[in-house]
Amino acid sequence: MRGGPVIAVDGPAAAGKGTLARRLAEALGLPYLDTGLLYRAVGRLALDAGQDPAQPAEKFAQALTPADMQRKDLRTPDVALAASKVAAQPAVRAALVDTQRRFAAEQGAVLDGRDIGTAIFPDADVKLFITASPATRALRRFLQNGGDATAADAQTLLRDMEEALSARDRADASRDSAPMCVADDAHVIETDTLDAQAVLAEALRFARERLVASRA
Ligand code: DC
Repeated sequence: MRGGPVIAVDGPAAAGKGTLARRLAEALGLPYLDTGLLYRAVGRLALDAGQDPAQPAEKFAQALTPADMQRKDLRTPDVALAASKVAAQPAVRAALVDTQRRFAAEQGAVLDGRDIGTAIFPDADVKLFITASPATRALRRFLQNGGDATAADAQTLLRDMEEALSARDRADASRDSAPMCVADDAHVIETDTLDAQAVLAEALRFARERLVASRA
């Protein structure tokens, strides 16, 4: 028996899951966990050890500390790629399951990731899948990183970013262990033509409807 609702926010890279999940958690008074940070921290530790992140990395996942997740160097493209590689390993995923489930045990939680509604909490009270076209996601990530869309090399940089995001999505969706996919009972929100406020409004509308229905 959990102490509050679990809200799963899944979707591909740079779709706006983090922004949405943080705001949802604030609006509903729930704790928030960015589960991508777990995999990023494991990938970072593998890189620090001079190890190819595609090689067995469960020892890093088993020894993960809160401080590893609070590092300031987890948001780089090389760490994102390393995270995707360690995340394909069943033993790494298995080592991180309890941490995610325990996080929500006391009060419930909002968690964002790739497999929250399918593998970590298949019984989540609310499941959202947030997505957008690769071009939209690349532009958002480019601007977030301080990129100038009017610069001479902007088109090349955007194309490279779109390719990197698409390659990571393909890897995350095609791995054998808990691949990224839309849960049968998830509400899909396409965010190409929506701003963050509109995405939050739609997510809150759906979440409240589900939470009321589950109490009835
Ligand atoms: O959400 P993110 O970009 O920070 O995630 C980094 C990588 O971690 C992503 O490419 C795949 C992996 N990941 C995962 O496999 N399962 C999760 N629940 C969260 C992230």
